[in-house]
Amino acid sequence: MSALPVTGGAGVIVRPVRPGEHGAVGRLLVEAYAPSGMPPDLDYWDALRDTTARTRDAEVWVAELDGSLAGTVTWAGRGSGQRELSRDDEAEFRMLAVDPRLHGRGVGAALLEAVLARARTEGWSAVVLCSATWMTAAHRLYGRAGFHRIPDRDWPPVPGVQLLAFRLPLPGHHLSGSPG
Ligand SMILES: CC(C)(COP(=O)(O)OP(=O)(O)OC[C@H]1O[C@@H](n2cnc3c(N)ncnc32)[C@H](O)[C@@H]1OP(=O)(O)O)[C@@H](O)C(=O)NCCC(=O)NCCS
Repeated sequence: MSALPVTGGAGVIVRPVRPGEHGAVGRLLVEAYAPSGMPPDLDYWDALRDTTARTRDAEVWVAELDGSLAGTVTWAGRGSGQRELSRDDEAEFRMLAVDPRLHGRGVGAALLEAVLARARTEGWSAVVLCSATWMTAAHRLYGRAGFHRIPDRDWPPVPGVQLLAFRLPLPGHHLSGSPG
């Protein structure tokens, strides 16, 4: 299933962000990343807040739980300026986050499953992402889904911050042309 909305486990609905939600999604991202230890002076905080900019070259999805905004993820398909480490045949996603008050209820897993469903349907060879060293809950989520580390693609966006690269190969049929 690739078309949104999708209803995942735990009754989570994943759907495209609506224009009136851009501010709330930005705030959710900042709130979710805040306890992580991310240095406060990074420009990345502005990138997290700016949902509108992100929608110009990627798809921003949200998760709804019991009718409320619960989480978000950014799907960076073919040609997206949000792609950071993917090769041409690899899908990439970014900025996965769940409202800290709703952690541990399967919202993150539902967003990840929506990403994987889109990637499988579009025939991408793999899904990749990068994640900061301190995002350990996310790393467990990725491990459970079958992602493995690809250290040769780790990279430092700014001095002192190392991003870890993860990859999930998708077996089966792949489009030979231009996925996504
Ligand atoms: C990573 C993140 C998105 C996970 O979101 P989440 O909604 O809490 O994820 P899930 O609920 O699917 O899984 C989290 C935990 O809850 C558990 N869980 C999931 N559903 C559950 C349920 N119904 N009952 C009990 N526990 C459950 C999972 O087993 C998992 O346990 P673990 O982390 O101890 O291994 C969230 O922690 C977050 O926003 N972190 C900050 C931002 C971040 O690091 N983003 C990653 C960017 S690369």
